[in-house]
This record gives sequence, C-alpha cells and structure tokens, in this order.
Amino acid sequence: MLHHQTTTDAPPRADIGPMGPTDHAGSARERAEYLELARRWGNSAECAERVGKGHCERVAEVACALAMADGIAGAELFWFRIGALLHDVGKLMVPADVLGKAGPLTPAEWRLVRQHPAEGVEMISAIDFPWDVSPIVAAHHERWDGAGYPYGLAGDEIPRTARIVCIADVYDALTSERSYKPALPHREAMVVMRADRGRQFDPDLFSVFERVAQENAQHWNQGARATHRVM
Ligand SMILES: [Fe+2]
Repeated sequence: MLHHQTTTDAPPRADIGPMGPTDHAGSARERAEYLELARRWGNSAECAERVGKGHCERVAEVACALAMADGIAGAELFWFRIGALLHDVGKLMVPADVLGKAGPLTPAEWRLVRQHPAEGVEMISAIDFPWDVSPIVAAHHERWDGAGYPYGLAGDEIPRTARIVCIADVYDALTSERSYKPALPHREAMVVMRADRGRQFDPDLFSVFERVAQENAQHWNQGARATHRVM
C-alpha cells in the first residue's frame, strides 16, 4: 500500500495521484483474488450489521457508474470498485449489539460507530493493494461542509474517490428498505439528496450524479433492496 491511516489524527490525503490504464493492473488471477476478498469482507460487514445482502455490491455499482462519468477508467476503475466494496469493512470491529440496535444509539455507541472508517483502514493495512483503496474506506463519511467524520475534512481535502462513494452510499441508503421505513423511489431520493448538494456532497460531482442517475436509475432499482441502517 502507498500509505495507511489508522487514527483520526492523520487524515487521508486528497490526491490519490493519476494512474494510467495499464498501471497497477495486476494479473487476471490477482485481480480475481482481490475481488473475491473484497466481496467476502464486504458481505461479512453486512452480516455484522444484520442487514440484507447486497448493500456493498449496490454501492459499488452506483459508485463505479459515477466514477466512470468522472473519468476513472481501466485498471483504476477496477481498484476503485474494490475500495467501494470494502468501504464499510470497519463495521466488523463495531460490536454487533450496537450495529443491530433497534432504537436510537447512545453518545457512547455513536462514538464506536464513528470509528468504523478508521477501523476499516486498520483492517486493510495488512494487505498490499496495488492501488491504495484506503482513502475511500477512511473518508466515505466526510462531508463537503466539514461536518462529517471521523476527520472533519472539508471540500477538496476529502479524497475525490471518497466523495464519489459517499454519494453512492447515501443513494443506496435512501432507496433501500429499512426496518423503520420503506425504500424511497428514485425520484424522491433525488429530492432529498439535492437538499444536501454543497452540504454533504461535492456540488460538481453531484451534478454529474444527477445525469448518471437519470440514465441508470431503472437498472439500479430493479429487485428488492435490503434492510439496513447507514452509519
Ligand atoms: Fe460507513
């Protein structure tokens, strides 16, 4: 890996650097093994949270569509997908009774939950990914206005890949059924998200997302969406 972030004192760098279509591509076997690992860990995080299957795969699908429209391609897109699949892997380190709690969380429980991005970076630090996926894991809950967690980064300080996954993560949360609410239709989810353009979301990236979502919403929303709580 190019770098690791394991504490809230050391935010991820925003510039992941350019990568050509053939750099860090890895062999086909190596890629298949990383993809399998990312899917297993992503699915494990869903199980730890007692959610239905498919959240990490859907977030990765939506995030990759936005990433492609933003110019990410080739090998870089493959590793971006790995990072998106792994974005919530740190939830494996959050106690199951906290993740599965039906009612509101206490302040102490929220502190545990808010550590899951840093916990995720710690978990994947032992793996030598050919492309550094840790900025996605570390910063997917940062907000454009600086009010996110765990680092409180703002604007361009937030790695662009994490800003993309943040949009995809929220879209999937809104359009998925949860124990206390039905899934929002695409159109209503976009109304909710537009209110956070420039607040939670990078305004320019969100404009790209508007177009991408219009083109893909029907495909994305096919099939049942799983019950889960987004933290
Ligand atoms: Fe998360």
